[in-house]
This record gives sequence, C-alpha cells and structure tokens, in this order.
Amino acid sequence: MARSDDEKGTGLAERLAATRKLTLDLAAPLSDADATIQPHPDASPAKWHLAHTTWFFETFILRDHVPGYRVHDDRWPYLFNSYYNGEGERHARPKRGMLSRPSLEEVRDWRLAVDAAVQSALPGLPSEALQLVELGINHEQQHQELFLTDILATLAENPLEPAYGTQDQAACYAAEPLGWIDGRSGEVEIGAGRDGFAFDCERPRHKALLTPHRLANRCVTNGEWQQFIEDGGYRTSTLWLSDGWDWLCREGIERPLYWHAEGGAFTLAGRREIDRAAPVAHVSFYEADAFARWSGARLPTEAEWEAAFASADPMVGHQLDQAGPALPRPGGGPFGDVWQWTGSAFLPYPGFKPDAGTVGEYNGKFMSGQMVLKGASCATPRGHSRATYRNFFPPAARWQFTGVRLARDA
Ligand SMILES: [Fe+2]
Repeated sequence: MARSDDEKGTGLAERLAATRKLTLDLAAPLSDADATIQPHPDASPAKWHLAHTTWFFETFILRDHVPGYRVHDDRWPYLFNSYYNGEGERHARPKRGMLSRPSLEEVRDWRLAVDAAVQSALPGLPSEALQLVELGINHEQQHQELFLTDILATLAENPLEPAYGTQDQAACYAAEPLGWIDGRSGEVEIGAGRDGFAFDCERPRHKALLTPHRLANRCVTNGEWQQFIEDGGYRTSTLWLSDGWDWLCREGIERPLYWHAEGGAFTLAGRREIDRAAPVAHVSFYEADAFARWSGARLPTEAEWEAAFASADPMVGHQLDQAGPALPRPGGGPFGDVWQWTGSAFLPYPGFKPDAGTVGEYNGKFMSGQMVLKGASCATPRGHSRATYRNFFPPAARWQFTGVRLARDA
C-alpha cells in the first residue's frame, strides 16, 4: 500500500469511529418503540437509519472488498437497502415502520460488529475502498441529520408532545435589521474542485454568468413570517405558483410545519414559544417562493448563493457537534441555521459524471422534480458543510430545517 493511503487510512479510522459513535449517541434517548415508528413515507424510523448506514458499510466495504467476509444476516440487506437498484429488490419505503424485528438491540449489535470488521480491514484496503469509506462517513452524516428531522416528525405525532432532549436557552438569536448586500456578478466559478471530499453532484467546477443582484444579509425570521400570515399570505392565490397553490389547497396549509394554530411550535425540546427573531424553519419551496413574491423579492439562484458564500465560515452557527449531540436550534451565522431554498432545480452540472459502480445511484438519478437548498442547518453535523454542497428536496417537502434567504435584481 502506498504511504499516502496508509496515512489516509489512519485519519479515516478516527473519523469513522467518531461518526459512528455520534449516531449511536443520537439514538441513546430512544426506546425501541420510539425508534421503530415511521411518521410518514418520506421519513424513516430511527432504527432504520441505524441499520441502513450499517448496511452501507457492510455492503460496499466488507462484502465487496474483504475476501471471506460473511454478511451478518443475509435477509437484512432486503430490509435496509434504501434505493439502490444495483443491489436488487428491497422492502417498500412506506413500510419501514412495520419492522418491529430486528430489535433496536440487535441493530446496535450489528453496528458494533460491522464497525469492528471495517476498522480491522481498514489498514489493508485499496484506495478505491478507502474512498468508499469516506463516502460512507459522509453518508452517515447525512443520515444523522435525517435521524433528527425524522425523530422530530415522529414525536410531533404524539399528543403528549414528548421532548427528545433539552435546548440550550442561552443560544438565543438576535436578528439584525434586514439589509441587502451586493452579490457577485459577471463570470464566476461554482462547484467543487478536484481536491478534498465532495459528492459527485458538486462536480465539476465550472463557470456561471451572474447578472447584478442583491442578497439579504440574513434569513427570513419567524416574526416576518407571522406578518406574512397576518397579511393573508396563505389565502392569496396570486402569490403562489400553480403547483404550490394546488398543494396548499389540497393539504390545508396555513402556517409552517409544527406551528400550532393556538400558538407555539413543536420542537425537539417539546412545544415552545415561537422566537420571533429566529430564522423561520420547516417551510417548503412553495412557501419560500410565495413569501419572496409577497416581499417584492425572489429566491437566490444556486450560483448567486454559492458565489456569495464561497469563502464564508461554515462552522458558524449551532451545528450538530462531533463531541456529543447538542440539540439543534436555529442560531446565528452566515449559514448553518436552516437550509436555504434556492430558485434552482437540481440538475447535473456541465460535464457531470456519477461515481462508478452502484454508488453512482447516490445523487444523479434524483435530478428530476427537486429544488436545490444551500448552506446547512442546525442539525447538520459539524464538518459536513461547504459552500458547494447541493442539498435537494421536492418542492413540497418541509420536514427538514428549511428556511429562506431573499434576493432581488439590482
Ligand atoms: Fe442512505
């Protein structure tokens, strides 16, 4: 093995262990029952997240790169493959909440067994497998965020309004007055360069042409969203895209997800007063777009956003910390509180090439009917953010920590 691979393997081993431990720490407050419920088809049970991330390492590292490795239970890949057609048939996504077996404890034991096997294989793995370990770590981090948004959705279904944890009330947010900053215009470069980890969809780096525009200096706050509601924003069809208005009428949408008609909002810390200065979260692309129109503004494009924040510090904010699960709560900073909807569809960059093998299904096949979100949220693991990151969700999705930054033509 080349020396550089060996060094990479040592650093990977530590990051792998820390990442896998954080996921277990996130699950620590949950009972088997908490971890088994699936609140809606888009969200997955906590136990499923613990198992699926383990399946990823067992399949793409141990099965494919460790001669003689025997899969822990050959019936489980059917249960815990998410969407990889290259890995064959699988359990239906909306039925993930039906899996009372294997138990949470059996899944935890499987995790530990797979972790031990990956750690012992690591020093001898070829560089292509080490790249898959890196992908597996980043994949696990994505699932840590989904774990939290999905457990929020789960607990929100219970009229007892159980809290997942407590929040640091000292981490209060003081909104600065809304101001406008000049965006970069002319020819800019966006996308990830060749060095360092990035998902395939972030590459290649390429040129984009931007017209003069301005960006809001912060995200839209809960207080501003309340004004939108009071002004009849949810009852004024002319503010909405046609698909968005149909969605609103069909679903009876009147306010952000988790806000209650009688006041307050459900959070990971249970029902809380709405902090008017905090960034609004849990709004869909349709709502973000309507709010922008009501404001006489628009959403930024992906390229405008990335050009503006290319050198911003993604560590600012209250992101999930590797040192232990700090309960997410929108805080402050250029980004890192809520994901920011853009007006850009999730499409391949010019020259996009999916990763080789089955993991090539990771992003590319979802480039239809989804909008890009930039930044990171309070539930994004620290170290998992960068300006080139391309998060994506369908326009009606709002169970993630999704918010809004306004833009307008200069
Ligand atoms: Fe996954």
